[in-house]
Amino acid sequence: MARSQFGSKIGLIAATVGSAVGLGNIWRFPAETQENGGAAYLLLYIACVFILGLPVMLAEFSLGRGGRSDSIGVFKKLSPGTNWWMVGGISIFAAYFISCFYMVVNGWTIEYLLQSITGNLYAPIEGVAAGSSALFEAKMDQYVNSDWMPLIFTWIAIIVNIAILLGGVQKGIERLSNTMMPLLFVALIALCIVSLTLPGAAEGVKWFLTPDFSKITIDTAVSALGQAFFSLSLGMGALITYASYYPSDAKMTSTSVVVAFMTLLVAVLMGLVIFPAVTSFGLADHSLRGTTLVFQTLPEVFSYLPLTQLWSTLFFVLLLVAAMTSIVSIMEVPVAFFCDRYGISRRKSVIYTHLPLFVLSGLCSLSFGSLSGVEIFGFSIFGFFDYVSANLLLPIGGIGLCIYLGWFAPRDLLKNQLTNEGAIKSNVVGIIQFILRYIAPVIISVILISNLI
Ligand code: PHE
Repeated sequence: MARSQFGSKIGLIAATVGSAVGLGNIWRFPAETQENGGAAYLLLYIACVFILGLPVMLAEFSLGRGGRSDSIGVFKKLSPGTNWWMVGGISIFAAYFISCFYMVVNGWTIEYLLQSITGNLYAPIEGVAAGSSALFEAKMDQYVNSDWMPLIFTWIAIIVNIAILLGGVQKGIERLSNTMMPLLFVALIALCIVSLTLPGAAEGVKWFLTPDFSKITIDTAVSALGQAFFSLSLGMGALITYASYYPSDAKMTSTSVVVAFMTLLVAVLMGLVIFPAVTSFGLADHSLRGTTLVFQTLPEVFSYLPLTQLWSTLFFVLLLVAAMTSIVSIMEVPVAFFCDRYGISRRKSVIYTHLPLFVLSGLCSLSFGSLSGVEIFGFSIFGFFDYVSANLLLPIGGIGLCIYLGWFAPRDLLKNQLTNEGAIKSNVVGIIQFILRYIAPVIISVILISNLI
């Protein structure tokens, strides 16, 4: 059977931007920015995206389209008889590990969206002051830090993912991205306007956009790089797999620039939603860390605005689109692998790869409820999946990828792919090759090591 392909240029860009723009931009980025001192961090992040992220993205694109297979298959095709396929193996593990906890957050998002629509999220609880931080803490206890509700919504998220992926590359992934991504931008811009027009908003904008270079340390640089990799979907085979569906005349370099630019744009717009809003309501000292930001601080902000439910619904739609278009790309990595490697139908592969998630993501979900006491190497179950994938498997996979493409891949792979076999010109091949050989592996090794010590 012929390998599936994206049906249109805009579709492949929407799908790839959809993969990149996810929870990484919406909750990880503002939290990291707050912790690392604002604009200086933003500048470092931008530098990492363009200097290291873009070359690694082009490496993944070249491998995917050059090998036209899943993320293990490309290594087997391009360098048969070697052990390089193990780099792809790591990426498949990483993808699966990430899915386990990403699906849980996806479930919370569906749950919060429904609770926003019905208004339950803002309904008073007896004994807790209405519209207060305590109320939203109590809501989080109900919706996140409990057993059944989050578990059921995690399962719903898995079922939705199965349904989308069963649709295949064009009718599932591409159609979802084409229809949903514009919605994401509309929602984001609307929220941005609301936030920027709040009283005292300028203070927050100033904090976000005025760099304080004394805040830059090695740790800041390390987290900016980690953020760049995570938010660009690098090191997990997702972009290798998507690029294997790119038509041969797709222009890799311009695609990568559009993806990087859009990812940055979403991060910056999100900063412009969050920082003015939290300063305006005097919540700037609240932790913006992950779950709390999205599921507690923001609902509190919305509760102070007129049309609370409208903004709340809009925000959770935005988060759901971002999360869904990313999780499909993550799960496409193992799905494509089982189809290509074992020749099974897409249908079977989608079902087999998702079944274990009902248990594994279920355990991650329960680690906020009854299983909150269970520890693996000092982490909660959710924290363990998060740590192992993002901080260990991802950088190891990334280094392997750079070394392979920089030194061991067929010599003209990068050049042929960036020039579409000579059909178009490219003057970046040399510099990309240089970064992949000498710069990227060293810097990613620094992240990995500094994460471990
Ligand atoms: N880039 C996605 C995000 O920001 C996460 C992701 C990582 C998706 C790796 C695919 C592969 O949320």
